[in-house]
Amino acid sequence: MSLQKSNPTELEPIERASQDELRSLQLERLRWSLRYVYDHVAHYRDRFSALGLNPQDVKSLAALAHLPFTVKDDLRRNYPFGMFAVKPAEVIRIHASSGTTGKPTIVGYTRADIENWSVLMARSIRAAGGKPGDMALVSYGYGLFTGGLGAHYGAERLGCAVIPMSGGQTEKQVQMINDLRPTIILVTPSYLLTIADEFVRQGLDPAASSLRVGILGAEPWSEAMRAEIENRLHLDAIDIYGLSEVMGPGVACECAETKDGLVIWEDHFYPEIIDPETGQVLPDGSVGELVLTSLTREALPLIRYRTRDLAKLLPPTARSMRRIGRIIGRSDDMLIIRGVNVFPSQIEELILRDVRLAPQYRLVVSREGRMDLLEVRVELRRESEEVEQERISRELQHQIKCWVGVTATVTLAPPGSIERVVVGKARRVIDRRTNPQNLHAERNNR
Ligand code: DLL
Repeated sequence: MSLQKSNPTELEPIERASQDELRSLQLERLRWSLRYVYDHVAHYRDRFSALGLNPQDVKSLAALAHLPFTVKDDLRRNYPFGMFAVKPAEVIRIHASSGTTGKPTIVGYTRADIENWSVLMARSIRAAGGKPGDMALVSYGYGLFTGGLGAHYGAERLGCAVIPMSGGQTEKQVQMINDLRPTIILVTPSYLLTIADEFVRQGLDPAASSLRVGILGAEPWSEAMRAEIENRLHLDAIDIYGLSEVMGPGVACECAETKDGLVIWEDHFYPEIIDPETGQVLPDGSVGELVLTSLTREALPLIRYRTRDLAKLLPPTARSMRRIGRIIGRSDDMLIIRGVNVFPSQIEELILRDVRLAPQYRLVVSREGRMDLLEVRVELRRESEEVEQERISRELQHQIKCWVGVTATVTLAPPGSIERVVVGKARRVIDRRTNPQNLHAERNNR
């Protein structure tokens, strides 16, 4: 099912297909995938049989809604290879995402899976504005994390020269950019800001760098953060989404020409949005939990996998496939502060609106008696007088109260004092409450 084509700068036919063509391809692939898991994965055969379901009964995409979900715990219970649909000899790559309880989630790929992943990452980089002949600096971590190698294979497939830099060694990242003059960087948004800071520290202007496109993901970020990155680095900051269980980066990616949300590569993944409480499928446009069904995967096919990411499905624009709006956060990222639901991204938006504040912050949640306390620690862009600092804190506190609905204390930190994450994902929430419902260790370890 390779979608390779002769000219990598042109859209693949499926990216321009009609809705009818796309839906009929999806149905054909869904039916294949259901039959395949039934025949090759005991977990699915048992689940379907217990419900009296035969994959052949699924005759429409809507009928998928009657099938059971797959959750991360199913992968854990079948650790390490129990959910694999192929023999070990057919697996050519393993990745893993780490969990709190010691056991990581193991994901595997056949040769065809790696081929499809490369094609989809190449498609994503092209959507972001990359083309053959570009030089790509891959600053996502290499290793068990899917970011580095996923980006690497896709960039090579598109015809780019790849610099496999990985995360960390920030001085060297700047040196590579200055000396080799890559045009594309693939990196987490928070680390790209750290690289920009390092430019300034070395007396260089990040806006004058060779970088033209940033392909940024693996952690939640906001429109305000996009504006900040684009202003500082003079590049197109493009959102890319994915998760290891379902493949890795390149499940969805924004298009440079519209920058209006992540186009989900629906020829390989069928998306649904559900109400996380009831499991009911919600109509397009409603916010809920993203559920993904793999349509072509061989080694680790997943049916109705609950991602725990909250987003909404939007109609197609630049491509034939639907988009997911910016990921609002994970359902387990949501903080409940004195009964109010708070997403770190909401606070980030407010911080970034204030030019006196740097986009570096931590949310510290604690409990005094029965009372949840939220402290927002945020960095100043430059040193300022005490009176000015009091004014800034008061204003941010007021904004948070108005827009998010919670009372927070604001602590201003000197420029450069909040620890930067140079490898892996930004960790912005420190939850000191002991109630297990609010423990965020799982998220922080992903
Ligand atoms: O983060 C894969 C990836 C690598 C995506 C590089 C993009 C770029 P995991 O480590 O399994 O895989 O983490 C997946 O990260 O469920 C989301 O919660 C979060 N995430 C990934 N991309 C975005 C994004 C990789 N663009 C988890 N916006 C997902 C918000 C994102 N959250």
